[in-house]
Amino acid sequence: MSLTRRNFLQFVGTAAGAEAVHLTMQALDLAGAGAAHAAPPRLLGGSGEGTSVVILGAGVSGLAAAYELSKAGYRCTILEATGRAGGRNRTVRAGDWVEEFGGRQRVDFGEADHLYANLGAARIPYHHRAILGYCREFGVELEVFTNDNRAALFHDRERFGGKPVVARQVITDTRGYVAELLAKAVGQGALDSELTGEDKERILEMLVSYGGLNPDRLYKGSNRGGYRGAQVHAGLKTGEVNAPLDLGEILQADFWRYKLHFSHFLNQNPTLFQPVGGMDAIVKGFEKRVGRLIRYRSVVKEIRQTAGGVRVVTGNGAVEADFAVCTIPAPVLKDIPGDFSPRTRAAIGAIGFVPAVKIAFQARRRFWEEDHAIYGGISWTDQDITQIWYPPYGYHRARGIIVGGYIWDDAPGLRYGGMTPPERLRAAIAEGERVHPGYGAELEAGVSQSWRETPFQKGGWPKSGHGPPEALQRPDGAVFFAGDQATALPGWQEGAALAAHAAVNAIHERVRAK
Ligand code: ALA
Repeated sequence: MSLTRRNFLQFVGTAAGAEAVHLTMQALDLAGAGAAHAAPPRLLGGSGEGTSVVILGAGVSGLAAAYELSKAGYRCTILEATGRAGGRNRTVRAGDWVEEFGGRQRVDFGEADHLYANLGAARIPYHHRAILGYCREFGVELEVFTNDNRAALFHDRERFGGKPVVARQVITDTRGYVAELLAKAVGQGALDSELTGEDKERILEMLVSYGGLNPDRLYKGSNRGGYRGAQVHAGLKTGEVNAPLDLGEILQADFWRYKLHFSHFLNQNPTLFQPVGGMDAIVKGFEKRVGRLIRYRSVVKEIRQTAGGVRVVTGNGAVEADFAVCTIPAPVLKDIPGDFSPRTRAAIGAIGFVPAVKIAFQARRRFWEEDHAIYGGISWTDQDITQIWYPPYGYHRARGIIVGGYIWDDAPGLRYGGMTPPERLRAAIAEGERVHPGYGAELEAGVSQSWRETPFQKGGWPKSGHGPPEALQRPDGAVFFAGDQATALPGWQEGAALAAHAAVNAIHERVRAK
């Protein structure tokens, strides 16, 4: 297909769905501003002696607050509504139960150290210094989490005959075509008013290298996209490079909207990490230090301001303290009676959460490695499951856990959230079959979690796009707010830790000013 510069620009300019793309990017915080980094608390040891703090929620934010406050001598109590710590830092293994409003699922994975699923937080980018700092401090061993894999697949039901295409080819060909078009524009003098003669020479040279163009500055395919036949590489013989994918199909497919450059988004930038053996290693690190402070199954019923501080009423008694750090997610907090200002109430009520769903399967055979040379990374599909993640650990071992669906957009999230757990598995298998024919026969167990359907969570993470709710960055009386919902990093443990640090610092300032 030949495409002139004009109709290329027309195509891009009139492309439908730009709004939808923006929404999905916002949901993953791909479009958002960078984080405002709070200073890590450096409280003098003993400065909190004689002051009590009740912390609502034993997720990462509550645990970090308790840890920092305890180090400075504050007397902390953590009220946790469920029977476990960690919140959305959730790793499941054989025999665990996932609780939702509609019932419980038992995790039927096999028993081996690589057979686990992180149903919530699953990746830590290199610049999330606060959470990585805790990993270092607690001796949590890290390994690389692979977001980006050139052997993974892109799938759009309407394009390329509905067959998945391999990422290395989509990326190579898209880049090649764009480089060719730009080289033509520069070569034909279309950008003469923007470029000096020397710039033009350099940019043309750059485009040949950038796009894998031939000496005539045309894109005719490149070995970067792999060779024809079953083998990716040529092996012993001189290979024949794959023919480039059709440009019209590339432009019609949804890949380029954000999926192709997903790892360019700041929070999805390599290097990313995961703790070896499961994300909950971070929670265990905190539990070792402040686990004794947690009162499990303490469901908060009321949050009251008193003359001297706060009184938090739970299903099994009340706790009084000088201050509270409240990390209860907004969709839950909005229904808890409390003495908050109308401004705080309005802010809590305005935070919408993403209806995130994750589905994990145990496969009897690591077919992605054996059949496709896919080692970690993500395949994309335009179906509701959105993604399939391959485990970046346990390579070549028997069995493996894949993420068979990771959904954050509203419509698919609500659709999957509304299904029973067995229905979700069946639907995810049916969709996965279009990416990996024969998929269902490879899978032997599955589990899902809709965070919207999860008690005491009622959502994945705050939708971004409107910035952090300022009202939650200020205390209301003796109540200080934390959790990722109070930051510009919604849906990240880093946000949870930074919010905890900000709350701890603010409490400390209040105590000092007394
Ligand atoms: N932090 C979440 C993710 O990376 C939103 O998917």
